[in-house]
Amino acid sequence: MRLLAVLATCLCGVLAVDDICTAKPKDLPLEPMCIYRSQDTAGDEAAEPDKIPELTNPRVWELSKANSRFALALYKNMADSKSATSNIFMSPISISTAFAMTKLGACNKTLAEIMQVFQFDSIKEKTSDQVHFFFAKLNCRLYRKADTTAELVSANRLFGEKSLAFNQTYQNISEVVYGAKLMPLNFKEKPELSRKTINDWVSNKTENRITDVIPEGVLNENTVLVLVNTIYFKGQWMNKFEKESVFKADFHKTDKESCSVSMMYQENKFRYGKFQKDKVKVLELPYKGNAITMVLILPMTGTSLAEVEKDLSLKRLMGWLDTMKEITVATQIPRFRIEDSFSLKEKLQKMGLVDLFDSNKASLPGILENGRDELFISEAFHKAFLEVNEEGSEAAASTVLIAMGRSINLNREVFIANKPFLLMIREASINAMIFMGRVADPCGSSE
Ligand SMILES: *[C@@H]1O[C@H](CO)[C@@H](O)[C@H](O)[C@H]1NC(C)=O
Ligand SMILES: *[C@@H]1O[C@H](CO)[C@@H](O)[C@H](O)[C@H]1NC(C)=O
Ligand SMILES: *[C@@H]1O[C@H](CO)[C@@H](O)[C@H](O)[C@H]1NC(C)=O
Ligand SMILES: *[C@@H]1O[C@H](CO)[C@@H](O)[C@H](O)[C@H]1NC(C)=O
Repeated sequence: MRLLAVLATCLCGVLAVDDICTAKPKDLPLEPMCIYRSQDTAGDEAAEPDKIPELTNPRVWELSKANSRFALALYKNMADSKSATSNIFMSPISISTAFAMTKLGACNKTLAEIMQVFQFDSIKEKTSDQVHFFFAKLNCRLYRKADTTAELVSANRLFGEKSLAFNQTYQNISEVVYGAKLMPLNFKEKPELSRKTINDWVSNKTENRITDVIPEGVLNENTVLVLVNTIYFKGQWMNKFEKESVFKADFHKTDKESCSVSMMYQENKFRYGKFQKDKVKVLELPYKGNAITMVLILPMTGTSLAEVEKDLSLKRLMGWLDTMKEITVATQIPRFRIEDSFSLKEKLQKMGLVDLFDSNKASLPGILENGRDELFISEAFHKAFLEVNEEGSEAAASTVLIAMGRSINLNREVFIANKPFLLMIREASINAMIFMGRVADPCGSSE
């Protein structure tokens, strides 16, 4: 009896303090209020043999794939709703993480829709509590690199109305899995001050790149909880572009319209693929540390980016990434800075996440104490920023004239990103899509 009691205390200790990155599922009694069990018997891609990267938990790999599938689905939704000449940029994994934290407290159809829209139901483990465990493991993979040359950090936080009691189990799991402590705020009396507190926190966690993420007037006396994820990346190219090799060039926004950009040039060995059938060239530029890369997808001459976007799928993307070869490529990429911000609500509703945003139908009984099922999600915002330059970080402008020698290698591959292209920043070994976007108009920011 005595021994049992001691053992039980130790398990509590494990939940409270120990390192989630080395924990086993049985060490962590992660029990959300409601468990989701998938209806279907086999996922559509379940039949295909799947090459799991070395030293990777198969369920973590599946979660990463689920996140990527969601990323592409959301991206297509965004691409459909925006004109072909506007930029898109977002961090899909940040969005998935924030909704996974919400999922912890969800039940019934609200829970089922989160599982489906975020593709968590494609993970073979048939219970939803395990999703959180594998999210923790994925975060360990992404954010705890021994290598410090590239910086990738993520932070989560819950901001809750101070007069309300939140379910302790919910808080405990949020903290253990997502590192998201609950900070009490006075939404009731001071919504604007609370908004400032949250926006400042976000700004602090993103090196001031993301400011005012919550617009004015969104928080009010009825606000109960604000769930926040931030992600920040800073990397230096493994192979920097020379400042002297930057020159003015035209970027062809459409067949008829061009604008001027500062084009960076280098000829170097990169992973590269030319896919005639899919009409794209794909180039992968590694950052120092080699775990994180930028993938650029450029339509071939005569093909529009819209056509490529229409047929984009995880299977196709993985096909490209798996068959690329290291080869010398004469690379031209514009220097640019893009920002994007949007409300996710309408887009996710279109994708089938309906009940969560519905004040009548939402079921989130796991968040407040005593199962008070009174919450719904009224809004969801996303804001993202990207700057690409010679170093991978900010640099002063320069104009250079390039005198190109007569080409020694006449058959060399060329990759000239002088028209709209797709890009993603990924963790290469597990293909976690950390950021994704479209560069359709880099001109105003390409000084
Ligand atoms: C929703 O879940 C709660 C448990 O939190 C349960 O009591 C209720 O019956 C469920 N409602 C429906 C419609 O399934
Ligand atoms: C939550 O964590 C605290 C501190 O680690 C612990 O004392 C408490 O028993 C936990 N509560 C629940 C409901 O898990
Ligand atoms: C964020 O806050 C910490 C602690 O207050 C501070 O040391 C750091 O400089 C801040 N970072 C930014 C980018 O403001
Ligand atoms: C908190 O949530 C858990 C499920 O995660 C539930 O078992 C427990 O009863 C809830 N506690 C309270 C006080 O509502």
